[in-house]
Amino acid sequence: MTVFDRILPIASEVLREHRAIVSQLEWLVINRDLNARVRIILPESVEPDVERRKQCEAIYEVLAARIAPHAYPVQTGILYEATRDEACAGGTSYPLDDFDKVWLVDRLATEGNWANIAPETDGAPRIVFFSIKGGVGRSTALAACAWKLAQLGKRVLVLDLDLESPGLSSSLLPTDRQPMYGITDWLVEDLVDNGEPILDGMIATSELARDGQIYVVPAHGSDAGEYIAKLGRVWMPKVGDDGTREPWSARSHRLLRTLEARIKPDIVLIDSRAGIDEVASSCVTDLGANLILLFALDGSQTWSGYRILFNHWQRARVAEDIRERLQMVAALVPELDPSAYLKDLRERAYDLFLEKLYDELASPDAEGWSFDLANELAPHQPWAVRWHRGFAALHTLHGRLEQIDDDEIRHVFGDLIGRILRYLGWGDGYPKVIDGGAF
Ligand SMILES: Nc1ncnc2c1ncn2[C@@H]1O[C@H](COP(=O)(O)OP(=O)(O)OP(=O)(O)O)[C@@H](O)[C@H]1O
Ligand SMILES: [Mg+2]
Repeated sequence: MTVFDRILPIASEVLREHRAIVSQLEWLVINRDLNARVRIILPESVEPDVERRKQCEAIYEVLAARIAPHAYPVQTGILYEATRDEACAGGTSYPLDDFDKVWLVDRLATEGNWANIAPETDGAPRIVFFSIKGGVGRSTALAACAWKLAQLGKRVLVLDLDLESPGLSSSLLPTDRQPMYGITDWLVEDLVDNGEPILDGMIATSELARDGQIYVVPAHGSDAGEYIAKLGRVWMPKVGDDGTREPWSARSHRLLRTLEARIKPDIVLIDSRAGIDEVASSCVTDLGANLILLFALDGSQTWSGYRILFNHWQRARVAEDIRERLQMVAALVPELDPSAYLKDLRERAYDLFLEKLYDELASPDAEGWSFDLANELAPHQPWAVRWHRGFAALHTLHGRLEQIDDDEIRHVFGDLIGRILRYLGWGDGYPKVIDGGAF
């Protein structure tokens, strides 16, 4: 009896045992289908070549016997395609370690795959607020950042993509300013080409901004309507008349570009869903984010969750595409001995980055960036948000933000906001917090 996690190690062993044959193939794809059964896909040229075909069938037979019940009878266990791209189409694929020509393609019941890393946008910077665990103060920190950036005169676009647990907009908007529609409405209307007419009705401005402007695009409108019926449809791909299929993550990226073209923001802040979730995967990997904030509490649940994610990126060989955009954030740093807490968190983050995403301890580059434990610019170096009783168990964050002053924001969120500002090249933000060693 073999379980799913043994499929790849066994497949690697079997292919290694038959390396002489495998190395003569143009390519070989291991296809793990929706039911977690494996076929191999080979170039079409193999099929008429009786000797080679028999050799490949023999390999599949050995593999199938060892991974049963995750396999098919040999008659149906081998498929042929013209090209490797065609063999991998519609799934998540990556090369298998130790082989030049062997790829894995995974067919998942969900669209989110975490391993397709969209290139960074070169327009207004996009910052994603993500965490493995929920309830760590992500949305509150995002609202505080929006507040500060707007005080500095910036046009801030805020997107609530935490569709299954929406709430950010209520922290930035009082009830009477909530717009009529939200992202969920657009994703449903877009399926019937009706997105454009509701666009203006899904953008609200917050009166919390002083010199700049905060544009809020909520998950749903002032009246959520039949939210659950709509939510169940947002994940739909849009199929064009010509049969082309636009996955929902590409649709949400299109929405983001449309909103950017309309609002012309200086910066976009995106509230992602927490956890290893489909919407979260889209926020983190599909939206072309420049900076992905990974909120973390120093606890085993946090680290085992990030380990799963980093492991996936390592396996899919995309570590290099994403690691420099990542940034740990120490969430809810306790009042008692914050420095010791941050030191532990930094070390644990470093160990994980080193094991999964860093490949060498390079000397600092021109900007002073390196994978060193102490390097101030490295992604494992946590930016901090303090726990503060004034933000715990708030009835409405909006009410709190209405009365807040710069000193309070500085005290709780100053380190995070200051570092975001420095990252953006928009000044030092709160230099006292950073340079004065407040933590
Ligand atoms: N800096 C802080 N200090 C103390 N409490 C905080 C702080 N920030 C947020 N909180 C409180 O923690 C709770 C969770 O905050 P928030 O909703 O911002 O977290 P979240 O990570 O966005 O959660 P979710 O995963 O549910 O979206 C709220 O009750 C909030 O008032
Ligand atoms: Mg939230």
